[in-house]
Amino acid sequence: MNDQSQIFASSRLEANTGEGHNLSANPTMGEIISARFSRRGFLGGSLAVTAIAASVSPIALLTAGEARAATGTAFNFDEVEAGVDADHHVAAGYDADVLLRWGDALFADAPEFDPANQTAAAQRQQFGYNNDYVGYIPFEGSAEHGLLVVNHEYTNPHLMFPGIVTLVEGKITLNPLSKEQVDIEMAAHGGSIVEIVKVDGKWQVVRDGAMNRRVTADTEMLLTGPAAGSKRLMTVADPAGTKVFGTLNNCAGGVTPWGTYVMAEENLQGYFMGELTADHPEAANYDRLGIPEGSYEWGLHYDRFDLSKEPNEPNRFGWIVEVDPLDPTSTPKKRTALGRFKHEGAESIVAKDGRVVFYLGDDERFDYVYKFVTAGTFNPDDRAANMDLLDSGTLFVAKFDAAGTVVWMPLIHGEGPLTADNGFTSQADVVIEVRRAGDLLGATKMDRPEDIQPNAVNGKVYVMLTNNTKRTAEQVDEANPRAENAFGHIIEIAETDGDFAGTTGTWEVLLKCGDPSVAEVGATFSTETTANGWFGMPDNCAVDAAGRLWVSTDGNNPTVTGRTDGLWAVDTEGEARATSKLFYRVPVGAEMCGPLFTPDDETAFVAVQHPGDGGADWAGFGRVSYYEDPATRWPDFNDALPVRPSVVVITKQGGGKIAV
Ligand code: FEO
Ligand code: CA
Ligand code: CA
Repeated sequence: MNDQSQIFASSRLEANTGEGHNLSANPTMGEIISARFSRRGFLGGSLAVTAIAASVSPIALLTAGEARAATGTAFNFDEVEAGVDADHHVAAGYDADVLLRWGDALFADAPEFDPANQTAAAQRQQFGYNNDYVGYIPFEGSAEHGLLVVNHEYTNPHLMFPGIVTLVEGKITLNPLSKEQVDIEMAAHGGSIVEIVKVDGKWQVVRDGAMNRRVTADTEMLLTGPAAGSKRLMTVADPAGTKVFGTLNNCAGGVTPWGTYVMAEENLQGYFMGELTADHPEAANYDRLGIPEGSYEWGLHYDRFDLSKEPNEPNRFGWIVEVDPLDPTSTPKKRTALGRFKHEGAESIVAKDGRVVFYLGDDERFDYVYKFVTAGTFNPDDRAANMDLLDSGTLFVAKFDAAGTVVWMPLIHGEGPLTADNGFTSQADVVIEVRRAGDLLGATKMDRPEDIQPNAVNGKVYVMLTNNTKRTAEQVDEANPRAENAFGHIIEIAETDGDFAGTTGTWEVLLKCGDPSVAEVGATFSTETTANGWFGMPDNCAVDAAGRLWVSTDGNNPTVTGRTDGLWAVDTEGEARATSKLFYRVPVGAEMCGPLFTPDDETAFVAVQHPGDGGADWAGFGRVSYYEDPATRWPDFNDALPVRPSVVVITKQGGGKIAV
């Protein structure tokens, strides 16, 4: 143990907090509307906690079918009881089966998981750690046979490696990792592409699937689009600035209309250490992204993660990566036209005129919502014709105004302030420093934009804003309507004339999250929402084939909301709008990622990320959780196995569509 390892430990354990780095002077509209908003939620009720029973409506006493008929909810299931324990729970009448766990062999010759003797070579052939995004690419349109694509966002060494933790006054300190352990971490990042098939109503992994593949922090990739070849991307290993090894912190993502897998690179700052030389031209760029944070020790073993040795390497991360999963030998491409920031995800939809629109969130306090519109159009009859659509198009940043209009402002070199006078000498500079470009255009500073999901059925777009406790009363605006926003909210956008490629739309807040029985929280769930049905911290989301919205969360815990994270069904239509019901909940310490529905709505895939990462605040455990003493050993509950992040398959017992 040394001082450096303590720094690594403390910062890694606090990762993904979305600490703000937006120091731009964009107005927040606070002066204009604070009189309307800043006191309303706080004066609306007693500061005392009102009775929990107040949030349980008589509707909760009805059967699900009766309730559905009475309220017009689109969801028919008996909800799970919210709470905290060591296991996961799904609604009655459904099965929740573990499909893929960290360490599961993905190839016929891959070694079986042996956590006490794990190697990087083994990890490269096994399912990675901390599964986040889940996508499904059907074979010939099948809802029962295809490829599952899964991101592996980051690693938790205190839960992965035996003997790595020293407890100091009840707190975890990590011992330095060996180079082999660093290599295991790098191999546990990235993504997995896995053939799966449903046999007799149960999904199975096809271990020798011809397209099975691991993408890791070492996989060779190309940089394409406007920043490719920029001198700001050149390194000793890549003097052309067009080739990079690996992808990092792959949070959410998407599957394109042409069946490729896009992976979002989010919190890149943690992987870099060291200092730039004095007056280095990238200093302001890196400050805006919080680089370097130094959470990982990779730079002790690999020069490219040390700014003093490879000052341009951070410019080669923070992109959207496109992978062709149908060709396991294909070279993934970092599509620089979609900009460089802390990308949460990249869900897409085909616009009326055939152009393809990708909605993009930058997950940091006070950062922005974006969309990218391709220049070319989608050709449904010629897959090959679509394969470079992501290299040309327009990136837009959102301004949400107080009148309920959203304006998508183009980020184009030479237009408005994006000129050499402001340090943008080309479109390469614009996409490398998208945040600064957004600052100059006066984009709206949001409460941590996470998943953004277009809904092809109702034509709307749903923006998950997870929280922002740093927003002051003076910084409140209509699109971010709560100061000290601890529980997040969801915005619904309607693009003008239903044109996803357009440059304007309208918006409204669908839901302010948190406990609706506590008046000062200011939550806006419908009165039909039960004490189990409300949630905080919306993060990922999905729209099923019927057009229904499902929201998963990151940050519920015993202290903050008295419940674990989970998957909630959220009505968006009619009088049931803003009614939420709990369908599935995760074990202690986990966050809920995925979610994803198959095209027949008969299967939901969910990703249980970092189970067991926490537990000190849960009365059932009450101490720090680590490899030798985890708060849960889900999903195996075998003392010889660690707790493991896993993808879970949810199906209705006896078959049929979910929640119908
Ligand atoms: Fe990786 Fe923004 O969650
Ligand atoms: Ca997320
Ligand atoms: Ca998150």
